[in-house]
Amino acid sequence: MSVRTMVSRRQAKLLYLLIFTSVSTFSFLILFRDSHKLLPHNIQLISDDAASWMRPAEHISHKRGFLLDTPHCKIPDLDPLDISVMQKIKRRGELLCFQKISITYTEGSVLKLNRTKIEQKLGGDFKYCQYQPIRRGPKNSDFVFVYGGVSNAFDHDILVPPENEFLRVHCYSHSDGKIATNFHAVVTPKEDVEHRSDYLFKQHLKKVAPKETYNVHMIGVDSVSRLHFIRQMQQTRQFLHEELQAFEMSGYNKVADNTFVNIVPMMVGKFVHEMGWNETMSDRPFDEYPFLWKNFSKAGYRTLYAEDAPKMAIFVYAKEGFHTPPADYYNRPLALAMETQRDIWSRDHHCVADRLETTMLLDYVTDFSRVFKKKPHFGFTFITRLTHDSQELAGSADYAYLKFLKRFKDEGHFNNTVLILYSDHGYRFGTMRSSYMGKVEERLPFLYLIFPPSFRNKYPQLVKNLRINSRRLTTPFDIHETLKDILYFDGAARKADISSRGISLFREIPAERTCDHAQILPHWCLCLEQKRLNANSRLAKLIGNAVVDHINAQLMPVSHLCAGLRLHNVSEVVQMESNEKVLRFSDTFHDVINRTVVYGAKTEAPVVYQVTLSTVPGHAMFEATMTYDPSVDTYKLGGDISRINAYSDQSLCVNNSLLKKFCFCLDTGHSPEQTEH
Ligand SMILES: *[C@@H]1O[C@H](CO)[C@@H](O)[C@H](O)[C@H]1NC(C)=O
Ligand SMILES: *[C@@H]1O[C@H](CO)[C@@H](O)[C@H](O)[C@H]1NC(C)=O
Ligand SMILES: *[C@@H]1O[C@H](CO)[C@@H](O)[C@H](O)[C@H]1NC(C)=O
Ligand SMILES: *[C@@H]1O[C@H](CO)[C@@H](O)[C@H](O)[C@H]1NC(C)=O
Ligand SMILES: *[C@@H]1O[C@H](CO)[C@@H](O)[C@H](O)[C@H]1NC(C)=O
Ligand SMILES: *[C@@H]1O[C@H](CO)[C@@H](O)[C@H](O)[C@H]1NC(C)=O
Ligand SMILES: *[C@@H]1O[C@H](CO)[C@@H](O)[C@H](O)[C@H]1NC(C)=O
Repeated sequence: MSVRTMVSRRQAKLLYLLIFTSVSTFSFLILFRDSHKLLPHNIQLISDDAASWMRPAEHISHKRGFLLDTPHCKIPDLDPLDISVMQKIKRRGELLCFQKISITYTEGSVLKLNRTKIEQKLGGDFKYCQYQPIRRGPKNSDFVFVYGGVSNAFDHDILVPPENEFLRVHCYSHSDGKIATNFHAVVTPKEDVEHRSDYLFKQHLKKVAPKETYNVHMIGVDSVSRLHFIRQMQQTRQFLHEELQAFEMSGYNKVADNTFVNIVPMMVGKFVHEMGWNETMSDRPFDEYPFLWKNFSKAGYRTLYAEDAPKMAIFVYAKEGFHTPPADYYNRPLALAMETQRDIWSRDHHCVADRLETTMLLDYVTDFSRVFKKKPHFGFTFITRLTHDSQELAGSADYAYLKFLKRFKDEGHFNNTVLILYSDHGYRFGTMRSSYMGKVEERLPFLYLIFPPSFRNKYPQLVKNLRINSRRLTTPFDIHETLKDILYFDGAARKADISSRGISLFREIPAERTCDHAQILPHWCLCLEQKRLNANSRLAKLIGNAVVDHINAQLMPVSHLCAGLRLHNVSEVVQMESNEKVLRFSDTFHDVINRTVVYGAKTEAPVVYQVTLSTVPGHAMFEATMTYDPSVDTYKLGGDISRINAYSDQSLCVNNSLLKKFCFCLDTGHSPEQTEH
């Protein structure tokens, strides 16, 4: 997340790769040895080491081979399963939390005992449990938590009093002493919050009269590019597309380096250096900055702020965090307490007792939406640990997010909730970062917006704009504007102003938008630079001939009907390349003071040519996109070849629509193909 941790993270990552590539069997045995005493003999360990790759249904998404294909911003559509990546990245299966036993769980405000587990795993040897509430420390600090007094012993389900939001539970057996520890978050309405929110919401309705008052959940997943999401989180992706009709913003481009500096634009609408923060203020809290969650709170929304990995939290890492909790429901004390309790963690610090840490946060989100199903609420959740240090574990995250989304849908929360699922940036460590693919991925995190089914029926114009925008250049500033539109929802489809840095995704992002308009600095900008080449040059002929070779190859099966084609002329070649700053980028240091970008050697990158040519016989005109790959010195076709003049009766002899545009029928006296059937 931040520059200062990079070295150690990089080392951790290397170590991790080492463990997983060379000693995976050995580590598996260790896991097994540690855990066997908890596993009945008839349960098989499911190996979650390596899962196989599946090719996603659609990967080359657009006709001309561009992910974004607007006049001033073309971004190549790369294959997520490109061989160069597949050699470097593995996919992990579901991560199971079986090493630590837990017999407690929560349901609403009730802390429950799992009787089945007590019988199955402990043979009934159970005496009682006790909990301690966890609270924010007395010094208004994000770094301090305290345990409250120990509760009475209980051996049955109990109602947790509303003042106890976060709990540590110890359970004891007759024979062995302490047998299980777990942590729980319990979401219960708070009297003062309810009173205030009800009042403010009424005011909001009166003043603004919004047409809809959707709840909002923003769920961030650290360090997952769009391409990485496609390759690692396929079940979640499929569910988003098929069950939730989510809008995927394919041209979502980060505007700064790490998490903090991309989240501030999203939640404040300003770059960090513009909002009046710099490193000299690392001991001052973020309480006074205008985060958009405050506006939701002032409009009567109950708010939630949740993060895992408390040492790396967005506003805490090398910073002071908040003195006043940023939200009504703030899991910080729980996260701190869990972090200091070493014996509850397993599986590389991803499992808390019997749950993934990620799942625990997603459960918190779900509980919040359950409790406030009929009351407006806003959640900001950012989940770091599982996907930050390892590219492989996004495969494991896939299971957790899929389960969460399924349940969220089944329980009807999507009926009145907008969910924004996104990442802050792609993977920023290791060798991937210096490859072209890695550079693209670092800059293009995934972003999905999910709207209630009724929104899709009631606001067709907004839906249309969202669809168009899914293939336009977008940034965290646009999310900020979208959130404002949701808070003051009026359903109107307004025209966007191209000169504003952030544009609500409810408006059509102008096709003419450039990185300059969106204030994406050149070293983050993936739009290819376009340059017209001399159409008579040797290079133009070379590319033209490469296209003709592709056409002739496709005509092979009908070579008895169609003439072989030759290049007649090339009328236009546009060369497109990534800008020099992207290709030479190596690192950035400091967020505000002494902010520097370090450039290094140029990365080899594909060069894209858009070529218009004509062929003989027949004077057919074609347009094609060819990509030159310097590493193998070949020209590859990107997307389809388009025929751009009429072919009238030149190709009557074939009936295959794909071949018709290429075929110049030989005058062979053959009857047309279709009559042979
Ligand atoms: C209780 O434990 C059983 C056995 O381990 C498990 O299958 C079940 O899911 C648990 N129930 C809950 C609500 O956690
Ligand atoms: C850092 O912020 C403080 C407080 O706003 C300001 O006084 C100071 O000039 C800033 N320093 C730099 C180098 O920008
Ligand atoms: C959010 O609240 C701040 C502080 O009250 C205010 O300045 C800003 O205009 C508000 N923004 C929106 C979009 O309501
Ligand atoms: C969601 O809305 C639909 C249509 O309005 C309704 O039929 C369904 O019962 C709702 N589901 C829940 C769980 O509220
Ligand atoms: C290329 O050939 C096409 C078709 O014969 C013709 O219309 C066009 O004028 C030619 N262009 C150039 C630049 O020679
Ligand atoms: C910024 O750079 C100057 C010159 O190298 C240095 O003296 C100063 O300490 C740096 N400030 C910070 C906050 O890093
Ligand atoms: C050939 O094309 C014609 C006209 O498009 C169509 O009616 C006919 O069904 C096609 N025949 C075959 C065998 O596909």
